[in-house]
Amino acid sequence: MCMQHNKVLILDFGSQYTQLIARRVRELNIYCEIHPFNKIPSDSDSFRAVILSGSPNSVRGEDALHPDLSNIRGKKPLLAVCYGAQYLAHFSGGEVAASNTREYGRANLDFIKTGETFFEGISQGTQVWMSHSDTIKELPTGGVLLASTEDVENAAFKIEGEDTFAIQFHPEVYHTTDGKKVLENFLVKIADIEQDWTPNAFVEETVADLKSQLGNDKVVLGLSGGVDSSVAAMLLHKAIGENLYCIFVNNGLLRKNEFQDVLMQYQGMGLNVKGVDASARFLDALAGKSDPEQKRKTIGRVFIEVFDDEANLIKDVKWLAQGTIYPDVIESVSATGGPSATIKSHHNVGGLPDFMKLKVVEPLKALFKDEVRRVGASMHMDSQLLGRHPFPGPGLAIRILGDLTAEKVRILQEVDAVFINNLRSWNLYDKVWQAGAILLPVNSVGVMGDERTYEKCVALRAVESTDGMTADWVNLPYEFLQKTSNEIINKVKGVNRVVYDISSKPPATIEWE
Ligand code: XMP
Repeated sequence: MCMQHNKVLILDFGSQYTQLIARRVRELNIYCEIHPFNKIPSDSDSFRAVILSGSPNSVRGEDALHPDLSNIRGKKPLLAVCYGAQYLAHFSGGEVAASNTREYGRANLDFIKTGETFFEGISQGTQVWMSHSDTIKELPTGGVLLASTEDVENAAFKIEGEDTFAIQFHPEVYHTTDGKKVLENFLVKIADIEQDWTPNAFVEETVADLKSQLGNDKVVLGLSGGVDSSVAAMLLHKAIGENLYCIFVNNGLLRKNEFQDVLMQYQGMGLNVKGVDASARFLDALAGKSDPEQKRKTIGRVFIEVFDDEANLIKDVKWLAQGTIYPDVIESVSATGGPSATIKSHHNVGGLPDFMKLKVVEPLKALFKDEVRRVGASMHMDSQLLGRHPFPGPGLAIRILGDLTAEKVRILQEVDAVFINNLRSWNLYDKVWQAGAILLPVNSVGVMGDERTYEKCVALRAVESTDGMTADWVNLPYEFLQKTSNEIINKVKGVNRVVYDISSKPPATIEWE
């Protein structure tokens, strides 16, 4: 990424909202990066402004997070949010204590000092969102009170003579009505940052960077049919054309007709793409395996073998391109310091086998998912391709519970196709974050005509989410469920019962395996 002149640094103290701060800043067309509070980047001088995030911790705790801000405070525009505000107060001679009154939820700002650029265009009484258990009792040296709420006296302050501002509320959450305006006032009016980080500018700069980075080198990329690898491919295609070799592997676990349809679409986009149908190889390797982790590992291993075989056919390939996006690379700050438990070992298409010795290029690694979509749209990519639901690398294998057979894959593909097509025709597809069908390892009794049947049961799952970390089941209309269930049972041979999954995550993960 270039545009060094316009970077904003967000120092993360582990708040669940840190990524939201970054997204709000970027919605203002300003580029920003998140770094852990204790790893202030060595090129911090190149950042035009700094934002301190919130945190689940207390500044008063024994394991408090206390970075040295002396190279930042007073030297460049600084906005401290929630824990950040408390830490700034603490760091600069103020006093932070446990609060006696409720400081969670909605509150209204009462401006103490009017005419401040920081609150320009925002009305007295504007709604803000609070979420903290400590409070700032005494402002730090040079602190000037800007606003209070009914329960929080020092809700916003600045440091006299500096572009340093602190707010106890969260400007990044939607409940803070004018949160985006606060960020805009700080970044544009106070820090004087230009709003020029647009999808078009990103494409232009990334393509230029890729051209100079890759020169005449050959690059191989594994397309998955998903948004990220497709947009990454398009950027590389613009930069190096035919030197980008795309490989689209059919693992036999894709949706119905997906391999053919998506391959044609890729060809229509002008990509140098090779479709490799390795369904039989995957199904053979999976035969008799019913443990979810074993299935994932097998698919990961076979994918690498197939991909490697294909990549070896390309002479002198030097780079492996991947569709890695920003949430995959943000280094997280753990409140406890310990690693988080592995719930599922995710296999993502395009993993780098050690022995390939290729250099890695990741053109999307600075972008959030919605930004990837906007970048794709600015390159006029097909909106259906860009709007596709996430689909797991191991595909239908983790939606067929237990062991796999070609017949089970066929049944699930048919069921899934009815469900997804209906979501589209009822205009529900774009309102759902992810949807799919699951083939259960149970048969149940039914009657069809005068015949007793003993056939498969399938579950339908549709969820709302922003990042897949948490998810709510979607309240699909009864008429839709009724029609879809009838259609599945009538059309798909081997299925006589349909159920709808009404579990949220946590505790129920999105995939059943
Ligand atoms: P869970 O089931 O963990 O899923 O709630 C969260 C998101 O991750 C996707 N998922 C996977 N994606 N390889 C992938 O590439 C995997 O092994 C895998 N397992 C789950 C899932 O579809 C959802 O979007």
